[in-house]
Amino acid sequence: MAEEAHSQVIDQVVQEALNQANVSETDLSAVAVTIGPGLSLCLRVGVQKARKTAGSFNLPIIGVHHMEAHALVARLVERELQFPFMALLISGGHNLLILAQGLGQYIQLGTSIDDAIGEAYDKTAKWLGLDMRRSGGPAIEELAQEGDAESIKFSIPMKQHKDCNFSYAGLKTQVRLAIESKNINAEIPISCASSQDRRSRADIAASFQRVAVLHLEERCQRAIQWALKIEPSIKHLVVSGGVASNQYVRARLDQVVKKNSLQLVCPPPSLCTDNGVMVAWTGIEHFRMGRFDPPPPAVESEDFVYDLRPRWPLGEEYAEGRSEARSLRKARIHPSLTSIIQASLQQQH
Ligand code: KG4
Ligand code: ZN
Repeated sequence: MAEEAHSQVIDQVVQEALNQANVSETDLSAVAVTIGPGLSLCLRVGVQKARKTAGSFNLPIIGVHHMEAHALVARLVERELQFPFMALLISGGHNLLILAQGLGQYIQLGTSIDDAIGEAYDKTAKWLGLDMRRSGGPAIEELAQEGDAESIKFSIPMKQHKDCNFSYAGLKTQVRLAIESKNINAEIPISCASSQDRRSRADIAASFQRVAVLHLEERCQRAIQWALKIEPSIKHLVVSGGVASNQYVRARLDQVVKKNSLQLVCPPPSLCTDNGVMVAWTGIEHFRMGRFDPPPPAVESEDFVYDLRPRWPLGEEYAEGRSEARSLRKARIHPSLTSIIQASLQQQH
């Protein structure tokens, strides 16, 4: 279904983007496209379209890492933002804490060992019977404003693990149990709930959000200490990805960042949630450094194998931060972006 949804709209979406920018393909200098991480079925739709466009108009092509794009778009918004900087990337599929030392040079300080925070927002919203038309995150954020965030004592994930990794599977279970114990029926949409029912849903939303974000705060605090040991000149923490459009998340993280005398850089919501601008911008950054592939042939051969990277780490793990709690499947993981770039630099020398 996801693949079909992508295939159905890809041509129209690209055409609309060109129209809105008031350009045609002949005005382009290159084509950038996400090649991972993500569902390969969906990645393929984008890569096919990008290669077709690049092939027809003789344009170089740049394969982009989705999470790098979430981080680098901050440099489009904040032109002062120089390397090295830190980034917390929070979306539906990934949580990442990275130290960006240069373009394509990342140290992974922490990652999600199970569900990402956005997934926990989406499930909580679904179980609370919220309107999911815009996705669950904004619905929880709105409802949480009516609730008492102290009313339910969810425990903060991974307290005993003194690292920078994230886990939201346990919090999700705690939320599900709380919803069951309050006899909330997700079949009854919140718009039809009694005022008492609405109140208890809002309490759960607020309590969930408080603890979900406390987990981010703790991880960021530790990651800042680690990062300053590696790169004492760091001035900025970038927060990006869909969940970074949340005002409560921004406000709480701003406090953590200020306490450490750093500055928060958070792109506007339209550039935090998945968008094409971030991919184009990351393409520009790499293009300027000479990192691109030559134009594909105008007609691709039938047996061409697309370079798709469904499981593709951004950087190498910070050695001191490696945790035994990690149970990540390592099979079929592509070498990290950073290790690929380092290998190619060594070849040039
Ligand atoms: O980065 P993104 O657009 O797509 C992925 O790469 O996953 O992130 C989507 C996630 C969804 O889980 C959505 O619920 C969450 O971002 N999200 C929010 C908010 N807006 C979007 N979560 C919390 N509060 C929001 N305001
Ligand atoms: Zn994303």
